[in-house]
Amino acid sequence: MTASSVTAPVAAAHDPLDTSGHEQVVLCSDPQSGLRAIISIHDTSLGPALGGTRFYPYASHDEALADVLRLSRGMSYKNAVAGIPHGGGKAVIIGDPSTDKTPELLRAFGRFVESLGGRYVTACDVGTYVQDMDVVAETTRFATGRSPENGGAGDSSVLTAFGVFQGMRAAAQHLWGEPTLKGRRVGIAGVGKVGRILAGHLVEDGAEVVVTDVNAAAVEALTATHPGIEVVGDVAALVRSDIDVYAPCALGGALDDDTVDVLRARIVCGGANNQLVTEGDGGTADRLVARGITYCPDFLVNAGGVIQVSDELLGFDFDRAKRGATAIFEHTLEVLETADERGESPAAAADHIAEKRMAAGSSTIWLPQR
Ligand SMILES: NC(=O)c1ccc[n+]([C@@H]2O[C@H](COP(=O)([O-])OP(=O)(O)OC[C@H]3O[C@@H](n4cnc5c(N)ncnc54)[C@H](O)[C@@H]3O)[C@@H](O)[C@H]2O)c1
Repeated sequence: MTASSVTAPVAAAHDPLDTSGHEQVVLCSDPQSGLRAIISIHDTSLGPALGGTRFYPYASHDEALADVLRLSRGMSYKNAVAGIPHGGGKAVIIGDPSTDKTPELLRAFGRFVESLGGRYVTACDVGTYVQDMDVVAETTRFATGRSPENGGAGDSSVLTAFGVFQGMRAAAQHLWGEPTLKGRRVGIAGVGKVGRILAGHLVEDGAEVVVTDVNAAAVEALTATHPGIEVVGDVAALVRSDIDVYAPCALGGALDDDTVDVLRARIVCGGANNQLVTEGDGGTADRLVARGITYCPDFLVNAGGVIQVSDELLGFDFDRAKRGATAIFEHTLEVLETADERGESPAAAADHIAEKRMAAGSSTIWLPQR
């Protein structure tokens, strides 16, 4: 997929190692290949769990467990809000992907995924790539996010960026009455795979675009195609500048307290995961509301990637997947309207909508079809 750690509401006194809210947590060990992994299925009331595999050198087993529990729960919310027929799951492989990743290890991991009979479908995340999913798919039918050469959909950033653009249009409609960024000044932090394509959509829509990136080559590549795009030195300068919309498209943690306090934009809508530094009541989402800033929850607007990989499971059809990502416009409007009606932040409203959908789904766990 898609890199896909997402924000999920976390209760204040929640024990990060408590598995009781999750349907199934599987510890996987294959001494021959050195595989140590955990697969977590949070909820399958809307269908088989879907979520990527993170390959990361966790310092301890507990740290890996806490991460996979948090991430799989986040996927339940992301998939429910995206309206795809999937529950939430995630896997972590403990190790350094640059030294520990071997085809044997990935095949061993695929066998564990296969052992769940389709209750968990894996995809890419931090530390895993489409080529890795091609190898995982050698031993399981339940790997998506593969390369086009192997029947997959390939890079998910095209639809991720398109979905973010749809979310931004919806926020513009909600705030300014028109579903367009024409004449608005949009600041993008990070013009890598997602930010670069988003910039193209915005230019086409008639927005003024201003960007920043630590990677000079990324900026040069973009301004070579779009000479009208303005560049500022860093994120600190971007958020303090006179922008109408801020689109974080680099790393997580984009919305810390200092940023929220100085931000001049009226809308925040970007592709980066985990933008809210403090989750839950009284956290960053509420701080944004207090400053009158409309925040489009990251896991809502960056769902184009997961929509793409879920489509791949049906035999990839770009137009169908694009229609799914187009619906992010309606989903964002629904979230922003629900937030107004309920007098809560858009982040809380998105959680509320996801929970309602999950509650209306199957009351028993999803089982492989016979
Ligand atoms: N690619 C997808 O399909 C997808 C899907 C969902 C979410 N996301 C999330 O969107 C974000 C961007 O993903 P991507 O695929 O474009 O990644 P990428 O690595 O291609 O691009 C990120 C860009 O951010 C820049 N950057 C990093 N730190 C920066 C800083 N401090 N200031 C300015 N620029 C900085 C990098 O130089 C890079 O150009 C990530 O948070 C990712 O998890 C991506």
